[in-house]
Amino acid sequence: MTKKILILPGDGIGPEIISQAEKVLAFLIQERGVKLDLEHGLLGGCAVDAAGVPMPEETLAKAKESSAILLGSVGGPKWETIERSIRPERGLLAIRSGLGLFANLRPAVLFPQLASASTLNEDVVSGLDIMIVRELTGGIYFGEPRGIRELDDGQRQGYNTLVYSESEIERIARIAFESASKRQGRLCSVDKANVLEATELWREVVTGISKDYPDVELQHMYVDNAAMQLVRDPKQFDVMVTTNMFGDILSDLASMLTGSIGMLPSASLASDGSGMYEPCHGSAPDITGQNVANPLATILSLSMLFRYSLSEAAIADKIEQSVSQVLSEGLRTKDIDAEGMTCVGTEEMGDAVVKALSSID
Ligand code: IPM
Ligand code: MG
Repeated sequence: MTKKILILPGDGIGPEIISQAEKVLAFLIQERGVKLDLEHGLLGGCAVDAAGVPMPEETLAKAKESSAILLGSVGGPKWETIERSIRPERGLLAIRSGLGLFANLRPAVLFPQLASASTLNEDVVSGLDIMIVRELTGGIYFGEPRGIRELDDGQRQGYNTLVYSESEIERIARIAFESASKRQGRLCSVDKANVLEATELWREVVTGISKDYPDVELQHMYVDNAAMQLVRDPKQFDVMVTTNMFGDILSDLASMLTGSIGMLPSASLASDGSGMYEPCHGSAPDITGQNVANPLATILSLSMLFRYSLSEAAIADKIEQSVSQVLSEGLRTKDIDAEGMTCVGTEEMGDAVVKALSSID
């Protein structure tokens, strides 16, 4: 049966960068005989405009019928002041939760060609290859109660709840241990167990699971220290596993080690292997429509889609090879541009990746 892929371009630069990934898909389907059915849908602000809600039922229904989803980005100033429950970001959280996408894999890999694009010294980042495993459907992002309430003295108080059950911790820990066992065999679990009970339990449960993975060396680290260590000596890490919010923050930090957040892909996986793939960067309203956004994080997300949800590692490898090739040719979008390189636009970068892909084989 031909597998279905749902494409959700979203808002801001989403449609521009997704178009480049679609060029890669079109090439694979038309020129390499890859069998896929592509469908499109609405998520985020565009869905609010068209249907009044950030995640229409139709989108969730289509998503459930698909083997994988490719997402651009959601949000933008236009929707920042609308009622909180229908803001674009809520649509993203709703689809993550609705599909049970609890495991967010965010690799921070430095392409050697970009070693000088990082703001850190080349010797600190060269060879960097970290996998951040972020819990994605729990923690403070979803904990109840939440809201903004009025206190007796008339002032308002904002409140959120950090909650983690043992089963939620266990399943994300297992994903991280599995990942570490296929890599360098080192796992760093990041928490704030010295202050937050929810992450005291996190540490306990992760330690318990480690007994099932004797080949993986487990280390625990407080999140403040982890942030410092990521900047001081990032290569000490192999796999990191952490909560939803800590993972959100640390993955942005890690992205800058690789030169630009415009290079960072991600996979969000459910227990059945289906998944949603999106660049880690946001909708970048400041550069929308200017043909300057970097499409490589989205193209690398497509590569993860082939690897994790379609079990097509060979295709995934080729997409990554093509990205590497265009970087070797000296092509750079504005965010990773450097002296002596050729600065190209979003469209040209997409075309170059397809050209590189067609030269492989
Ligand atoms: C991310 C983003 C989202 C998050 C936002 C847009 C809701 O920052 O995917 O990292 O916080 O998870
Ligand atoms: Mg984020």
